[in-house]
Amino acid sequence: MKDLKALFYSTGIIPVIKIESLDKADGLAQALRSSGIHVAEITFRTKTAPGVIERFASRHSDILVGAGTVTTKEEVDSALSAGAAFVVSPGFNPVICSYCIEKGVPVFPGVNNPSLIEQAIAMGLSVLKFFPAEVSGGVRALKAFESVYSSVSFIPTGGIQENNINEYLALKNVLACGGSWIVPTDLIEAGKFEAIEGLIGSARRTMLGFLPLQHGDRGLNREKADAGARIGDGAAIEVKTTSLRRSLAILQAEGFSSVLGSEVMRGKSMAAAEIEIPSLHGRIRLVE
Ligand code: 3PG
Repeated sequence: MKDLKALFYSTGIIPVIKIESLDKADGLAQALRSSGIHVAEITFRTKTAPGVIERFASRHSDILVGAGTVTTKEEVDSALSAGAAFVVSPGFNPVICSYCIEKGVPVFPGVNNPSLIEQAIAMGLSVLKFFPAEVSGGVRALKAFESVYSSVSFIPTGGIQENNINEYLALKNVLACGGSWIVPTDLIEAGKFEAIEGLIGSARRTMLGFLPLQHGDRGLNREKADAGARIGDGAAIEVKTTSLRRSLAILQAEGFSSVLGSEVMRGKSMAAAEIEIPSLHGRIRLVE
């Protein structure tokens, strides 16, 4: 459980996936992987869900797969035999929670008020989905929960998008946010995985303020990125700046040098450039 919490925290955004076609599972897994997402919640909103979970668990074991929208014991059984590593349910159903506890699988039931939180705590649960987040009071409700249930962490889901995710992630009692907007079903079904990578990349950039190059960049250092390069062995971390020219001028004045040939031009203006950071044995890539 400790590891799961750490994984959720470091992922920040858990994709809530509704997928109809099994033959899109591999492409989706690849899009998640190359976007730096190593957790997936496959919802039981389609008949394909168990097959997709099985596919992720067997072929894409670097992505921890869980089952979402689980509302019956039969679905718990089906999720577990497919290889799901955790179970998420939209509401707090004591039957489902006890069954998962009995089976030894982590369960994250949805709650949205103190009575449900207390029932979940009474079952020994300390990580809960907060659903539907936006219409249940959103950030203000979570702040109120923090003052009384300080040992509970939440995964708010429902109405979270790129424009409000950082308000949630800034809260002490939020482990990660769940969201379907980064994995729209129509894009999955159309096989538009680059568009999905774009949505995830944009969301991660909003969350982090930068993108680790090995996951998010298709540009200069893609070869290194594909080889799994990290800062410290010559790869770059991407940092967004409001004025690239001014940032370069400031950094150069401080004694940092830009990497020859790393400039990317957009028309007459510079769109990206890399700076060597000797103390990190690596580079940052500034983008505007
Ligand atoms: C869920 O099942 O967790 C929600 O439907 C996801 O909510 P969202 O579609 O608003 O992200």
